[in-house]
Amino acid sequence: MIGTLAPVTIRQRAGTYALTPASGVSLTAIAEHQALLRGSGIDWGCGTGCLAIVAAKISAVEAVVGLDSSELDVRVAAENAAVNGVDGKTTFLHADSYHPNTRQGREALVMLRGKVDFVLANPPASRGDDGFSFRREVLTGAREFLKGEAVVLVQISIQYSQKRIDLLTQIPGFRYAGCLATTPWVPFDQDRSDLRQHLVDYAAEEWRGGLDYTFGDPRNCGRTFIDARTALDLFRQTGMSPLSQWQVHLFRYERGSSG
Ligand SMILES: C[S@@+](CC[C@H](N)C(=O)[O-])C[C@H]1O[C@@H](n2cnc3c(N)ncnc32)[C@H](O)[C@@H]1O
Repeated sequence: MIGTLAPVTIRQRAGTYALTPASGVSLTAIAEHQALLRGSGIDWGCGTGCLAIVAAKISAVEAVVGLDSSELDVRVAAENAAVNGVDGKTTFLHADSYHPNTRQGREALVMLRGKVDFVLANPPASRGDDGFSFRREVLTGAREFLKGEAVVLVQISIQYSQKRIDLLTQIPGFRYAGCLATTPWVPFDQDRSDLRQHLVDYAAEEWRGGLDYTFGDPRNCGRTFIDARTALDLFRQTGMSPLSQWQVHLFRYERGSSG
């Protein structure tokens, strides 16, 4: 059971994106802030459809389009929507970001230009840069589709730092409106191979001169912050995972605003 929404069933298949704590906090944000969502929405990087399906359960929501670069995830998302009785309100499209790979998909998305009330996104970390590119892409690309007043809910974990969040408001039209949901400090679990790789990538970005990351220090239960280089050294020396908080942040969009 999530908030006051009816329970949903999300089936996974071998090769589909696994639900993680980042999915969980995104579901919590939707369930606890249902009043933000109405009309039409896009779920960027929908995976097996959990965010789109939960949003579609909200009575004020009329339609949600899920976009994902994995054909298998898109197929399974459509099956999950049917299992949860929201197939009439949801469409899932194979796409690279906001660019569907089929003519039918492109036609469907063109119809949404300037008509979308909300975008939901739990994006992956990008590679070879600061890890934050997909978050920037979610907001930048959304502008074509959002109505005059709309909202974007993006999963951004605390280690990306408030500075990177603030920089997102340089994308014209967006105003930062706060953190909607957070976990407590939890290990940025270095037993998970993807998170181990992210920590190495973040440290490399700091060595290149990029903005620092902000992990909680596991030696004092997160009372102070450490950067990624310190977190990586600490893990290599002690096996301690740095601490993170999985969070969802709200951006309000106002067309015509300079941001
Ligand atoms: C962190 S998962 C989130 C899945 C689901 N929304 C959730 O919260 O559990 C990120 C998803 O983004 C998809 N993805 C990665 N790059 C993408 C791109 N360029 N365009 C669209 N989807 C992408 C991945 O296939 C994956 O399903």
